Amino acid sequence: MALTMRIVCVLLLSIPLCYGSVEYKHELQKWPTVAITVLVRNKANSLPYFLSCLSNLDYPKDRIIVWVYSDYNSDKSDDILNDWVDKYSSAYQEVHITTNATTDVMHEDQESITHWSVLRYKHVIKLRENALNFARGVWADYVFMLDADVLLTEPLILKYLINKELPIAAPMLISDGVYSNFWCGMDEFYYYKRTEEYRPILKRKEVGCFDVPMVHTAVLINLNFKDSDMLTYVPDNVKHYQGPEDDIIAFAVGAKTSGINMYICNDHIYGFIPVPLENGDSDDDAEDILNVKMEVLGHGIQLPLYKDLEKYVEYPAYTKLGLTEIFMINLARREERRAIMQRSFKELGLDVTLFEAVDGKSLTEDVMQKYNITLLPTYQDPYHKRPMKAGEIGCFLSHYLIWKKIVDNHYAVTLLLEDDIHFVPFFKLKFLRMMEEIKDLDWDLVYIGRKILMDNEEVAVTDHTTQPLYSYWTLGYVLRESGAKKLIAGEPLSKLVPVDEYLPIMFDKHPTTEWVRHFPERNLKALSAAPLLVHPTHYTGEEGYISDTEDSSIVNPKGVRIEL
Ligand SMILES: *[C@@H]1O[C@H](CO)[C@@H](O)[C@H](O)[C@H]1NC(C)=O
Ligand SMILES: *[C@@H]1O[C@H](CO)[C@@H](O)[C@H](O)[C@H]1NC(C)=O
Repeated sequence: MALTMRIVCVLLLSIPLCYGSVEYKHELQKWPTVAITVLVRNKANSLPYFLSCLSNLDYPKDRIIVWVYSDYNSDKSDDILNDWVDKYSSAYQEVHITTNATTDVMHEDQESITHWSVLRYKHVIKLRENALNFARGVWADYVFMLDADVLLTEPLILKYLINKELPIAAPMLISDGVYSNFWCGMDEFYYYKRTEEYRPILKRKEVGCFDVPMVHTAVLINLNFKDSDMLTYVPDNVKHYQGPEDDIIAFAVGAKTSGINMYICNDHIYGFIPVPLENGDSDDDAEDILNVKMEVLGHGIQLPLYKDLEKYVEYPAYTKLGLTEIFMINLARREERRAIMQRSFKELGLDVTLFEAVDGKSLTEDVMQKYNITLLPTYQDPYHKRPMKAGEIGCFLSHYLIWKKIVDNHYAVTLLLEDDIHFVPFFKLKFLRMMEEIKDLDWDLVYIGRKILMDNEEVAVTDHTTQPLYSYWTLGYVLRESGAKKLIAGEPLSKLVPVDEYLPIMFDKHPTTEWVRHFPERNLKALSAAPLLVHPTHYTGEEGYISDTEDSSIVNPKGVRIEL
C-alpha cells in the first residue's frame, strides 16, 4: 500500500502554489464520498475566503456533496452564498443550500448578536444534528462538519485526513495566541481544562494525530464506522449526560461514552481560525477575520480569494494612524514580499509609503565612498562570528536615509516597517492604545517588533510598554524627530555596525563595551511595545526564509581590516 506523492508547482495568477498530488490509500478504489456541512450566520467577513478555500480543495468534486444552512443573518451572507452557488456549484455531486431569510436577526432571548442564549444553543444543536443526519441520509462515507469562518489553506486536507482512516479527525487550526479547535483536558463539569499536553501540540513541537477529549469547528467523521451511528449533537440523546446544553460538548462526551476516539491532527498547516467573538464584540468582527489573514500571511501562506467573491470583501479606509508618515523599507527586487505586505496594508487600511531600500548587491566602492562608510574595525557578528555583510550595510543605509528624511522634513512621528513582518490581531487598536498611553512621556523611539533577548528583566513603563534591553532586529519602530536627530548625530556611517546593534548602543543597553566606546553620546530614549505588535514572517533559518541581510556576500571594502 504505497502512498505515492508527487509535488507539482504551478504558477496561478502569479501566486505560486505547490500541490502535492496524493493518492487514496486503497489504490484501486475511488476516493470516499464526503458531505461537507456548514452552518452560516453573519459570516459575510469570512465567507469570501471560506468559499474560495472550499472551491480550492484538491478532492474530486463529484465525490462531494455540499450542505449549507444559513439563517438569523443581519449581513450579506446569503447574497455571497447564492453568488457562489450560481458560479461554482455545478462541479459538485450535489449542493443543498438553504438560506432562511424569514428568521429575525436574533433569537428572542439573545441580548446581542454574539450572545449565546438558551434558544440559540437549542437552535444550533438542532441544525448540527440535521447536518449529521443529512450526511447519513445520502450515505456519505464521511461528513466534514465545518464552521463558516474556518480558512482551510491546505488544499489536500481531505485527502490527508481521509488517508488516516480515523473515526473522528480534526485538522488543528491555527489562531491567535493559545486558541485552537481542540482541548486536551475536560473537567468534571465537562468544561475546558488546561493540561500540559496542549502546548506541544499547539506549537507543533509534537507532530501527528493525538487522541483528545474534544475537537470542534472543523471535524471529519467517518460514517462507515458502525459505532458512528451513536454520534449525536443532542445532549438528551447522550446516555447519562449531565453536562451543559451545548452541541460540541454533548458530541464529545457522547463519542467517548460510545468508545469512539477523536483525534487532532497537526502534521500539516491545515488552516486558520479567528478567535471566537465574545458577547458584544461584534464591531471588531471585521478586523478579527482580517487579522487572522495576517496570521495566514505570517506563515507565508497565500489565502485564496476568488475574483467573483472579492467584491464582498469590505476593506477599511486608509489611515496613517495619526503619524506623520509610515514607511516600508523594501528592495526593488523583492516584489513578492512587497505584494504580500501591500495586501496586508490594504486589509488593515494602513496608508504606507514605499521606501526603496539600498541594495547590498549593488553596493560599489563608489557608494561606500559617497556615504563615507567605514565599518567598525572590531565588529564581528556575535552569533555567526563573521563580519558585516553587504546586505547589512544596505539595510543600515536604508534606515539611515529615512532618518535623514525625517530630520530634513521635520516629520514629527514616523513609523518604519521592514517588509517581512505580520501584524498581531487587532493591530490598529493596540497600536493606537499604546500611542495614547505614551503621548505625554519623553521618548525618541518605540520598538513595535524586535527579538527580545531578556524578556523577564525588562521593566514596564506603561500598561503596554517596557524599557527595552539589548535586543535584535528592527522589524518596526516609531521614531520621533528627536530620535532621528540623535541617531544621525551618532555618526554611525563612519563606524558601521548592523542597524539592530546600533539602536541598543544608542539607548545604552549594548553589552559589548568595545563597540560602545565609539559612540560617546548614547542618550536615545527608547521604549518597546509589550507585547510586541509585529512579528517576523519567518525566522532566520526556517524553511522558506530568504533574508536580504543574512545571505548576501561578505564585503571587505578597501582599507578595512576584517577580523574573523
Ligand atoms: C426558517 O425559520 C423559521 C423560524 O425558525 C422556521 O419556522 C422555518 O421552518 C425555517 N424554514 C426553513 C426552510 O428551514
Ligand atoms: C569621512 O570620514 C573620515 C573619518 O571619519 C573623515 O576624516 C572624512 O573627513 C570624511 N569624509 C567626508 C567626505 O565626509
